Amino acid sequence: MENVKHEKWSSGFIFLLAAVGSAVGLGNIWRFPYVVAENGGGAFVLLYLGIVILLGIPLLMTELSIGRMTGKAPINAFDQMVKENDVKAKPLWTALGWSYMLVPLGILCFYFVVAGWTLNYVTGMVMGDFNGITAEGAQESFGAMLGNWKTLIFWMTITLLITIGIVSQGIKEGLEKAVKILMPALFVIMVALVIYSSVTGEFLESVKFMFTPDFSKITGKTIMMAAGQAFFSLSLGSAAMMMYGAYLTKDISIPKMACGVALADTSVAILAGFMIFPIVFAHGMANASGPGLVFEVLPVIFTDMPMGQLFGVLFFLLLAFAAVTSTISLLEPMVALLEEKGYKRLPSAFIVGGGVWLIGVICALSLNVLQDVRLLGGVEALKDKNIMDIVEYFAANVFVPLNGLFVAIFIGWMVKRSTMIDEFNMGDNIVFKAWKFLVCYIVPIVMIAVFYDAAIGF
Ligand code: PFF
Repeated sequence: MENVKHEKWSSGFIFLLAAVGSAVGLGNIWRFPYVVAENGGGAFVLLYLGIVILLGIPLLMTELSIGRMTGKAPINAFDQMVKENDVKAKPLWTALGWSYMLVPLGILCFYFVVAGWTLNYVTGMVMGDFNGITAEGAQESFGAMLGNWKTLIFWMTITLLITIGIVSQGIKEGLEKAVKILMPALFVIMVALVIYSSVTGEFLESVKFMFTPDFSKITGKTIMMAAGQAFFSLSLGSAAMMMYGAYLTKDISIPKMACGVALADTSVAILAGFMIFPIVFAHGMANASGPGLVFEVLPVIFTDMPMGQLFGVLFFLLLAFAAVTSTISLLEPMVALLEEKGYKRLPSAFIVGGGVWLIGVICALSLNVLQDVRLLGGVEALKDKNIMDIVEYFAANVFVPLNGLFVAIFIGWMVKRSTMIDEFNMGDNIVFKAWKFLVCYIVPIVMIAVFYDAAIGF
């Protein structure tokens, strides 16, 4: 059954919508602004941009082409490439294939919880719970939500069911239809909010904060955080891009698509900064307020603005949709793998989703009932992290970059040069040479340095 043929995207544009949908999500709007705030602002943003260009785009090209060349889910894709290119150390690459398959499920476990927060905020907005709310009130109400495990599990389950519903319908009937509606809507609302926020908030201070680098703030840990965030945001190291590449027809240019995805994703992350920081500064809110940043800040924006309640409903709804266009790409690879093994899509989507739900519940409980549990309390750098933080930390900051490092070594050093020249379909030109140099040298050297530095920090 390993020769099952998957459906293909209807066009390059639809692929772009789906891939940007995967990349743009909570990582851009929820995570990027608070990670920037926690890691010193401008210096971090600059590092982030450098990493997207020098590491992110080459890796995106790599993952998309591994998918397209084989047309299979990562574990089978690596197997096929090992055979075709006569690659040594097969068990290592099989392990890499599994790591690619499992990381998205780890991400999903905490991603669903946060996606659930957004749906909870939609209903809060509809009910007018945030009307006239102050900055302190918003912080309190966010805390109250985290304390209520029933609410968290309820909304997380709804997000999961929506995701399963879409994925179970397949590429054309499920994924394509979803992204065609959700992506344009998200874009329009986001632009409107950025304009509003920049006009009414402390725009210049935000520009200074985001673009004035203070290099003393850069440490090994900052570089690791920037790499983790960039890879996470581009959906790298986690099977989504490989799987979406597997549905891509041969006539589409992978280098162009990779640049398009990276440009759109990075623009949205920066725009999210311009949506959040002007208001944060205008209200004198604590800048490094961590994962609650978006949830504590935006209700305050909406209460001040004309038709704020309506905008609030739309915004959190669309944030939830942005999350869903990412969660479908996280669930899809394992479902596709089961399809390759001969199982039907619908039950596969429910079974994989059910497994994720169980661990997701533990993550949700770690915000309240299990909030004092410290799985790695003995490790100095992780001693304050609850279970959900640990899952997020290892999935996004450890395994995602680790997969990126190994896939670069695989494609740069193990796979024949001619195989990749054929795949990119542009000859041995300057773009190819630059890509080859980046995956062979820059990605591995930077990543090994980052991991070495992080390891001695423990
Ligand atoms: N890129 C998504 C975001 O920024 O929210 C998260 C994500 C989706 C990561 C899909 C990994 C992935 F495979």
